[in-house]
Amino acid sequence: MYVYLNDRLVPRAEATVSVFDHGFLYGDGVYETMRVYDDVVFMLDEHLMRLFRSATLIGLTIPLDAERIRAAIYDTLSANSLKNAYVRLTISRGYGPIGLDPDLCSTPTFVVIAEEMKDYPKAFYVKGISVIIAKTKRNLSDAINPQIKSLNFLNNILAKIEAKREDAYEAIMLNGSGYLTEGTISNVFFYRDDILCTPSIGCGLLDGITRTVILDLAVREGLMVREGEFGKKDIHAAHEVFLTNTTMEVMPVFQVDEVRYNVGDVGKLLRKAYREEVNAYVRNMKGRGPSLWGYE
Ligand code: PDD
Repeated sequence: MYVYLNDRLVPRAEATVSVFDHGFLYGDGVYETMRVYDDVVFMLDEHLMRLFRSATLIGLTIPLDAERIRAAIYDTLSANSLKNAYVRLTISRGYGPIGLDPDLCSTPTFVVIAEEMKDYPKAFYVKGISVIIAKTKRNLSDAINPQIKSLNFLNNILAKIEAKREDAYEAIMLNGSGYLTEGTISNVFFYRDDILCTPSIGCGLLDGITRTVILDLAVREGLMVREGEFGKKDIHAAHEVFLTNTTMEVMPVFQVDEVRYNVGDVGKLLRKAYREEVNAYVRNMKGRGPSLWGYE
């Protein structure tokens, strides 16, 4: 297995980063997770745009332009002969002496890891997963903005620990005002009184790329959609609940705290529509020819 490290592919065993890397010392950096279907990175442009936005929000200048990053991703996929994969792109502040000052680091560390996509257990999609509302609150938008997809994940990890203690798979965090935000690695949707609801970005959450696709598909399917401020009571009173992210796509939820739900038709409909959207995207990209693989 090969990993792309800075400017080249190296064997996995040689893909090491200094203990003085500020990504390791301080969680100072940004990342993206992407999914590859049949040789095509789904929504690559959107992921790259979000990566550059995250970097800008932490004052990090990415040393490669989007075309070079695209090429690095496809080089990594082809070096590992991967067709259906998971890609993790990480950019840290880089190597530098101890101290918070970002100017201590002259060159960001750039890493692409690609691995075969390991699907979630089928039972998760058939039965749904169990979720809690965590006591850990989501970071305030004006403390660490959740729109920064940062390497510093302790907020989410604390919520995940709570979930594990309760034998739940995911934890939904509330914001400082008690409104729902998002899961530790996912966005949340629920269907109530014939309306598909999801917390608005203003509640303080990551604008998930899957979330945006699902909102578009829901409108296309003629569903009523509401982005807004919702509390615990709203989700507890829902008819169905599901989570979204790049790797899980649309994941049904059978339980939030003590409340049970059926794996419902709206989630099933959107899961199917999402897969069709992925297939159409892959067909379209392949139809455009090899230049899209990131090379001149
Ligand atoms: N997580 N919210 C958080 C906090 C996330 O970390 C993620 C993604 C999402 C969903 O975003 P998207 O639909 O763009 O994947 C929402 C990825 C999968 C991860 O951490 O690896």
